[in-house]
Amino acid sequence: MEKMKDLKDLLKHEIEDLISAEQQIIEALPSMIEKAKNPQLRQALQEHLQVTEMQKTRLDKVMETLKANNGKEESKGIFNGIFGGGEKVCKGMQGLIKEGEKIISADMNPQVLDAAIIACAQKIEHYEICAYGTVRAYANELKIPQVSQLLEQTLNEEYDADDLLTSLAVGGLNQEAEDRRSGKRSGSARSATSKSSSNGRSNGSNGRSNGSKKSSSSSSSSSKSTSSSSKGKAAKTRKTRASGKRSTSKAK
Ligand SMILES: [Fe+2]
Repeated sequence: MEKMKDLKDLLKHEIEDLISAEQQIIEALPSMIEKAKNPQLRQALQEHLQVTEMQKTRLDKVMETLKANNGKEESKGIFNGIFGGGEKVCKGMQGLIKEGEKIISADMNPQVLDAAIIACAQKIEHYEICAYGTVRAYANELKIPQVSQLLEQTLNEEYDADDLLTSLAVGGLNQEAEDRRSGKRSGSARSATSKSSSNGRSNGSNGRSNGSKKSSSSSSSSSKSTSSSSKGKAAKTRKTRASGKRSTSKAK
């Protein structure tokens, strides 16, 4: 690996890592969609696959911008990983996906499998929230607004996806998995459930607290790819979060 001399080199390295991560997610999501039983979960994963493909394209744009920004250095050094020197593999995402594939291949009831798929997807989302929050903070620091904007757009989409998964999990799917264990039929009347701890929010390093607040423009852009019912759930969860634990965030 080339020596990283400054924050810009580190940003390039992290973007390469994310390109690999998104590519791995694009390859892994179809099998998760196929195994999911709940229609809303299937829809959420299907929509996120389309969003992820856009995110990958966005990262390619980021790389092009950094390449242009980098002048003659583009043909050597750290860019070789993307432009001709062999692809970098994000080992973190590889591990998360491998772990997810192992658990969702285990013998379990369909309702339990849905809960396991959500857990797997949220681990991936939390990794991405951390990674995108970090690179956005770097781009802010380096004063490359066009890169910062693209990364923030994706960060907001990852938050939306995570919110939606949380609302599906605590809104019924976890309880359906629990009902299977206690012998109840799924779809029975639900009592109020505790909506805390697992399936909650991550606090990724350099996440929202380390950059500008979510802009309305990127918010509306990310929402376009989400169904109306999905949007409602995600927005509701965001609203709850905004007035809750994340109030410790320091907005710039
Ligand atoms: Fe993503």
